[in-house]
Amino acid sequence: MENLLGFSSFDDMFRKLSENPAKLSVVLGLIYLTGLLCVSSIPYVYWQFFERKKHQAAVAKGQAKSAEAVQLTANASAQQPSSGMPTPEQTFQLMRTRRTIFPRDFSEERVSRQEVERMLEAANWAPTHGRSEPWRYVVLGQDGMQAFANATLEAIDRQDIDPEVARKQRGKIEKKRDNDMLKTSFMIVFGMKRQALPEKRMPEWEEIAATSCAAQNLMLMGTAMNIIGYWSSWSEVAKDDIGVKKFLGLTEEDQCLGVYYLGRSQSVGQYRNARGLCSEKVTWM
Ligand SMILES: Cc1cc2nc3c(=O)[nH]c(=O)nc-3n(C[C@H](O)[C@H](O)[C@H](O)COP(=O)(O)O)c2cc1C
Repeated sequence: MENLLGFSSFDDMFRKLSENPAKLSVVLGLIYLTGLLCVSSIPYVYWQFFERKKHQAAVAKGQAKSAEAVQLTANASAQQPSSGMPTPEQTFQLMRTRRTIFPRDFSEERVSRQEVERMLEAANWAPTHGRSEPWRYVVLGQDGMQAFANATLEAIDRQDIDPEVARKQRGKIEKKRDNDMLKTSFMIVFGMKRQALPEKRMPEWEEIAATSCAAQNLMLMGTAMNIIGYWSSWSEVAKDDIGVKKFLGLTEEDQCLGVYYLGRSQSVGQYRNARGLCSEKVTWM
């Protein structure tokens, strides 16, 4: 069987090439070009390898770099006159200190209703397009949490889904109900009220974004008050269920954007979290 160049074997190739100088130069040219391509790609392969290493090291040092940024901000702000505001350094420190702490690490110390009200007041100052203020909260104490878990379990049973998926979802919620919730002072359900102002229908993404901004305000205020928490998506299959929405006082178009477990913890410093470099997520034009 002949190959593409028309040779049936090496012997055949050498014989034909020695008889045909034109064919010989084509073959030699091809060999030369292939070699050239391989050699010229070596620096590129090396460059890619070192770039990757550099990137991995930069990600590992992400926190340290951010700390440098804090220092830079601190130096700049030290010269600014005080206006009663926290300094940029303090603000940045607050944001970096906010950490997700899971209920297994919550302490016995409880958060008071007054403290939750203060956090909710901070949340209420989130930016909002058209002043629709679409954030809505349901604050659940122990009885409320148990009732919410049960409403969620009933909703899972109502779904027309793979029984195995339903079994897993049930297990997840039962575990939360029987463990996490008992360690939680309050659970705040983050609700998004669609078209909170009847005369203004803003795009849905703006209302979700505004509600998320409010959630961040709430978490940062908590951090400043030594209150920690965990934002959970809750049950993906149940949170859109109309029965669960009704339980939460939401209507069909509204959305539940998960729940926030509130508590206190001795483990704050033990939860580390790095971020990749900010500069890699920014394009300047
Ligand atoms: C919208 C949203 C939903 C989240 N849902 C979950 C969740 O279902 N389970 C979970 O373990 N963490 C969840 N998280 C928390 C993240 O795991 C956490 O923010 C992340 O690990 C970064 O840690 P940090 O908050 O300490 O910076 C959620 C966070 C956000 C913003």
